[in-house]
Amino acid sequence: MKYQQILNTIQSDLATTPYAGKVATYIPELAKISPKKLGMHLYCINSGHYSFGDNDERFSIQSISKVFGLTLAMSLLNDELFKRVDVEPSGNAFNSLIQLEYENGIPRNPFINAGALVISDVLISTLKNPKKSFLEFIHDITGNTSIAINQEVFNSEKECSFRNAALLNLMKSFGNIKNEIEEVLDFYIYQCAIEMSCKELATAFMIYANGGKKLSNGQQIISSQKTKRINAVMQTCGFYDEAGEFSFRVGLPGKSGVGGGIAAIHPEQYAVTVWSPPLNPKGNSELGMYALERLTTLTGFSIF
Ligand code: DON
Repeated sequence: MKYQQILNTIQSDLATTPYAGKVATYIPELAKISPKKLGMHLYCINSGHYSFGDNDERFSIQSISKVFGLTLAMSLLNDELFKRVDVEPSGNAFNSLIQLEYENGIPRNPFINAGALVISDVLISTLKNPKKSFLEFIHDITGNTSIAINQEVFNSEKECSFRNAALLNLMKSFGNIKNEIEEVLDFYIYQCAIEMSCKELATAFMIYANGGKKLSNGQQIISSQKTKRINAVMQTCGFYDEAGEFSFRVGLPGKSGVGGGIAAIHPEQYAVTVWSPPLNPKGNSELGMYALERLTTLTGFSIF
């Protein structure tokens, strides 16, 4: 497959594609990012790295971190985890409260905010130093120990996390949050504030394309059976109330974040990431989705 040629075509397509999306402003620090940033990186299991644009510049991974949180929790626990968080698409916004009330504080899936907050609670109960372990996990799967949080983004989200605090309070009233609300919120915001480049994210996501193993040394990070499940949840829940649309247009398991990043995989083929900050009304990168739609169209293959 001529991936670099295909990426070059996508880059020139995007240069002339009008967009209506807006950079996220509800976390004030994210509003400072230029809407013009654009990068893409494809890491092929057989033939290595292909890229264009700002693929080496770090950005706020935000909800893409939820995939790493789920992976860590699944590597530590078995099916008991899914008594506290379900694996069904929500059909609602990522930060919605409504289903939680009539579904007794059990979030629909680990990728909506409520679900990731439960996963954070589980990790706090299981790990001695959850922040350190979380960062070490990312350092391990990328082979890059310089990855860290952006302190300004962390502080900025901390000052305005009223909805996430509401989600935590509601779930705690149902007994589905075991630790202190402030502690869970702090750890959740920490994960979202991690910065990575498209290249680093593609390297991290290679474990999901490679049956749970690091490509660099074959180390099994998570079992292939659990990897299958994580990929299934990405496919059905990775884009919130736009998960159907992403499957329909792109046809790959993936995960978005309000920093404008999207990471996706084609099992046994590649991990691919794109960064473009303007978001569509559902909170997903508008040009990022378009770039990935072009990728599966131009290559002529997706998982379907
Ligand atoms: O909790 C929040 O609202 C953000 N830290 C993360 C949300 C997010 O990235 C949703 N993704 N599209």
